[in-house]
Amino acid sequence: MVDGEQVGVARLGVIGCGLMGSGIVEVAARAGVDVLVREIDAGAVEAGRARITGSLDRAVKRGKLSAEDRDATLGRVSFTTDLGDFGDRQLVVEAIAENEQLKTEIFSTLDKVVVSPDALFASNTSSIPIMKLGMATSRPEQVIGIHFFNPVPVMPLVELVPSLLTSDATKESARAFVTGPLGKQVITSQDRAGFVVNALLVPYLLSAIRMLESGFASADDIDNGMVLGCSHPMGPLRLCDLIGLDTIKAVAESMYDEFKEPLYSSPPLLARMVDAGLLGKKNGRGFHDYR
Ligand code: CAA
Repeated sequence: MVDGEQVGVARLGVIGCGLMGSGIVEVAARAGVDVLVREIDAGAVEAGRARITGSLDRAVKRGKLSAEDRDATLGRVSFTTDLGDFGDRQLVVEAIAENEQLKTEIFSTLDKVVVSPDALFASNTSSIPIMKLGMATSRPEQVIGIHFFNPVPVMPLVELVPSLLTSDATKESARAFVTGPLGKQVITSQDRAGFVVNALLVPYLLSAIRMLESGFASADDIDNGMVLGCSHPMGPLRLCDLIGLDTIKAVAESMYDEFKEPLYSSPPLLARMVDAGLLGKKNGRGFHDYR
C-alpha cells in the first residue's frame, strides 16, 4: 500500500463466528458489505449461521429491521471452512478464541492467501499483542487491532490498536471502515495487553469474583449492588457471564503475563468454573443460571 492511501472495504473476511465474530458479521452485512466467514467445520458453520439468523430475526420481531432487509443481509454473508477462499478479501478480521498460537498461524496463512497487496489484517483480540500477529506476516504495517465490544450490534465502541509498525494508511482505513459503514465510535490504544477498556474492566470483574469466592456477598447481591447503587446496566458477575468465563480467564492471564500485577491474577474460582465448563450465558450456566 502506498503510505497515506486508504483502502475502502467492500469485501470483508471474518474468521470465527462465535459470540464476537457473528456480531461483527451481522453489523458489516447490515451495512451492505459482502462478508465471507470462516469456521472450523460444518457444525460450527451451522451454529454461526444460526447465531446470525437468530439475532436478525430478533431485530425483525422488535421492528428494527424489515424482513426484506434481513433476507438481503443474509444474502451478503457466505461461509467456508477453508482459509484458502480468502484470496479476494480487502480486510480480514480474526475473531477466534484468545489463543496466541492459533492466531499467529491464521495471520501467517492469511499473508500467503490474500492476494491484494493493499489488504488489511485485523484482530479482535482483547489482549494479545498486535505486534506478535503482525510479525507472523510479511506485511506488519498492514496489521491492526480492531477490538469490538459485546454485544457487537449494541455497543458503540471499537478500540483501534496499531502496533509499533502499523502504517498511518492502515490506521486511517480501519478508522474509516468502523466509523463509516459500521457506525461505531473509536478510541485508540497503545498495543498493551488489555488495551484501554479491559485494563480498567478486568480488575473490577476479578474483584467481584474474589468477593464471591471469599463469601463476602452472594452473586445476586454483588450484581444488584452495582446495578442499583451505581447504575451499571448489569452487575459484574452477570457481565462475566455475558463475556464468557473462558474469555475473561484468557484475557486476565495475558494481562498478568504482561504486567505481573496481582490485580490481574485469575482467582481459583474462575479457573475451576472454566474447568467445569461453566462458561456463562453462551452455554447456559456461569455465576447465574440461564437454562
Ligand atoms: N444483539 C442485538 N441487540 C441486542 C442484543 C444482542 N445480542 N442484546 C441486547 N440487544 C438490544 C435489544 O434489542 C434492546 O434494543 P432496543 O432497546 O432498541 O429494543 C437493547 O439492546 C436492550 O436490550 P434488552 O432490553 O434485551 O436488555 P438490557 O436492557 O438488559 O440490555 C445489554 C442488555 C445491552 C447487554 C446491557 O445489559 C448492557 O449494555 N450490558 C453491558 C454490556 C457490556 O458492558 N459490554 C462490554 C463487555 S466487555 C467486552 O466485550 C470486551 C472484551 O474484550 C471482554
